[in-house]
Amino acid sequence: MEKSNGLRVVLFPLPIQGCINPMFQLAKILHSRGFSITVIHTRFNTPKASNHPLYTFLEIQDGLSEAEASTRDVTLVLTLLNQSCCRGWIRPSPKARRIDGPIRISKALRAPAPFPLRISFPCNRRNAFPTINKTSLLNPRLKPNVSLFSTVSRSNSCEAPFRDCLTKLLQSETEERKQTISCLIDDSGWIFTQHLAQSLNLSRFVLSTYKVSFFVGHFVLPKLRRERYLQPQGSSIACSEQDEPAEEFPPLRKKDLLRILDEETEVLDSYSDMILETTKASSGLVFVSSCEELDEDSLRQARREFQVPIFAIGPSHSYFPGSSSSLFTPDQTCIQWLDKQEDKTVIYVSFGSVVNISETELLEISWGLRNSDQPFLWVVRVGMVNGTKWIEAIPEKGKIVKWAPQQDVLKHRATGGFLTHNGWNSTVESVCEGVPMICVPSVWDQLLNARFVSDVWMVGLHLRSREW
Ligand code: UDX
Repeated sequence: MEKSNGLRVVLFPLPIQGCINPMFQLAKILHSRGFSITVIHTRFNTPKASNHPLYTFLEIQDGLSEAEASTRDVTLVLTLLNQSCCRGWIRPSPKARRIDGPIRISKALRAPAPFPLRISFPCNRRNAFPTINKTSLLNPRLKPNVSLFSTVSRSNSCEAPFRDCLTKLLQSETEERKQTISCLIDDSGWIFTQHLAQSLNLSRFVLSTYKVSFFVGHFVLPKLRRERYLQPQGSSIACSEQDEPAEEFPPLRKKDLLRILDEETEVLDSYSDMILETTKASSGLVFVSSCEELDEDSLRQARREFQVPIFAIGPSHSYFPGSSSSLFTPDQTCIQWLDKQEDKTVIYVSFGSVVNISETELLEISWGLRNSDQPFLWVVRVGMVNGTKWIEAIPEKGKIVKWAPQQDVLKHRATGGFLTHNGWNSTVESVCEGVPMICVPSVWDQLLNARFVSDVWMVGLHLRSREW
């Protein structure tokens, strides 16, 4: 670390793994440049302070009971909170905008490795599971465990405790005259913080954990959704057109866009509007897992439209790994197991921290992996399979863990491919390690990330089924 520069930065991550990791990467970068770090966090999904002894951690109340806060069932907690918070949030949407032009990636980022894996979906052992119907076999679509409602609800319930905490911090700064708090950096998903920072005369920078093109592009969704409802036949698109590019949001295809538009409606729309409004009013926007090469055109567009300084400072996870900010304990036996496998033979399977699957999908994926005849390492989080606490059976050739040291797994010489939900962190980590992907996006930005992987950068394949 460089010598302290006498400045302190206050960070406020959204309590989701995919948002916590980038925030802690940013913390490490800032700390290495001499800034002191204070992390304000919710009790729910609290980060491990013991992994960061040089930072100050301040917990705020989030309105959850002890039992709710200690559960790993994110859906339960967030749905509970969501109930009372959505009313009165519907506002007129701002002018919708369009993204034009293809997005390029530098040649250097194209995965050099061949694609050595064979994986068969649907499985050809249907008779073994007579309860699985044809549709589910052909359509292994994953279900999200958490929706963006979560951030809406969480925002509301944390506002007063956060305000009290930040105000006290600023007061103690004035009284002690030791260090100056230079700014607040929080997730774009916190929509009450801009107003608060302004009232306290504190600069606020927004961290977006999405790909730049998704962050910039998704503000067009409310308009598209409204237009769709105005059509007499709703949104139905002829089968022949489903694979065509969605011009309003490239490189999505029409069927991808429909899936995104089918997600939550009004609350999500007004939430997007507020994110847009509060980001435009902020002091600047930071993308920690993007860079000019990955997002050149979108960054240009963002700079034009937001009119605030924009920094794309990633991908930085190779220098500042996310493992220390893991909410779960990674099972290190994965690495010993990988050590015993041949080069580029193992398929790593993980759907991130919030996607859930059904038992049927679990079985389908199991058989697909088994039929691929490749060794596999599969992350099945506790509670990830709806209706099942934990699975005991470990299929041949495979290792199942509750949480993996993902970055080490992707770096490992034995890992040859990644079956992924295409959360942005996982996508970037895989691209950077040159691991080709099999994409099974579930919701929201994951569909766009997957299209970049398969159609633009050509470093992976979309898992085909009748629907996709
Ligand atoms: C969420 C959203 O689902 C995603 O769409 C959005 O882009 C970011 O926020 P999440 O589902 O957690 O993210 O996925 P992802 O963005 O891939 O982040 C998961 C992080 O957890 C990665 O940094 C990954 O390395 C880490 N991880 C995951 C582990 O360390 N071990 C695991 O076993 C699985």
